[in-house]
Amino acid sequence: MALDQAELNKILASGQKAIQDASSLALLNDCRVAYFGKKGHITDLMKQLGSLSPDQKKIAGKQINDIKQALEQSLQDKKIILEQSAGDAALKNNYIDITLPGRQSSVGSLHPITHTKNKICEIFRKLGFAVAEGPEIENEFYNFEALNIGPNHPARAMQDTFYFTNQLLLRTHTSPVQIRYMQEHPAPIKMLAPGRVYRCDFDVTHTPMFHQVEGLLVDKTCTFSDLKYIINLFLSHFFEKDIPTRFRASYFPFTEPSAEVDIQCVQCQGAGCRICKQTGWLEVMGCGMVHPKVLENGGINPEEYTGYAFGMGVERFAMLSYSVDDIRAFYENDVRLLKQFSGV
Ligand code: FA5
Ligand code: MG
Repeated sequence: MALDQAELNKILASGQKAIQDASSLALLNDCRVAYFGKKGHITDLMKQLGSLSPDQKKIAGKQINDIKQALEQSLQDKKIILEQSAGDAALKNNYIDITLPGRQSSVGSLHPITHTKNKICEIFRKLGFAVAEGPEIENEFYNFEALNIGPNHPARAMQDTFYFTNQLLLRTHTSPVQIRYMQEHPAPIKMLAPGRVYRCDFDVTHTPMFHQVEGLLVDKTCTFSDLKYIINLFLSHFFEKDIPTRFRASYFPFTEPSAEVDIQCVQCQGAGCRICKQTGWLEVMGCGMVHPKVLENGGINPEEYTGYAFGMGVERFAMLSYSVDDIRAFYENDVRLLKQFSGV
């Protein structure tokens, strides 16, 4: 016995109409459940097959299969249409304005002080100086005593030095690295020690933390004119032109004789301006011949060896190269200022 074909056609027609009318993927899913779900029309028909004989089952099975396939096809076709229009709607709602400017990603760069320190080190590295480091927390022996700075020297006072305890302090200069290096390395020596140093200081040319680069050369035949030569060579390389210099007699307990090096003001070429306080000259470093006692403290025989040393403030060189007239500007972390030096 075949199933009533007219009845089946009706099921098919009403199913196809419902599918046709489904206006969203959710409604289409409802249709699928109504026909193929547990209690769906097609499922009901399939259940009826159980009570038929094998021959009848064959005929009725084919009848059901035909409308089942037709409905499945309709569901599939409609799904594609609905998905397409859902995608179109999403595109319309999430409209991307391709004319908007892109987000700028900013590129980091070295701090101008780091750049200046590297530039100084690079020049001396080419002259054969080895780069060394020492601790920022020092003891009184290395920071003062070994450098011939007696117990009553004003540099030891609380208003200049940051102390932790009686013995420990934040180093006030890079000169203690001279002693540490001499103790560990036999002469001859050619050393450069860049690093941070600390003093109780704060004004337009002084900050409590700043950088120095220390130089030390120890050899059998080492004279003050060698020192003058190397400093002049360095300065002409750093400023990329020959610069008039003067070595002004000065005093440091750890060098004898001692000098401070002035360069002709790079801003006004000696005419006098705000940066050089109308003098036409700028002090850039301290230097001198290493005191025999200091050589001795480093384990080197002063009868056999002589040496020269120098110490320069990195910030001072950065101020001159970038024409920055307040040292504190380097440490305010104002990106607008720092960015100007990012390409150098
Ligand atoms: C010294 O510190 C000696 N150790 C330098 C030296 C080394 C002399 C080896 C001889 C042999 P002075 O205190 O002058 O010297 O400091 C050296 C440089 O550090 C100064 O010329 C200045 O450029 C810089 N400086 C000093 N104090 C400050 C500060 N508070 N902020 C920024 N720079 C400073
Ligand atoms: Mg000085």
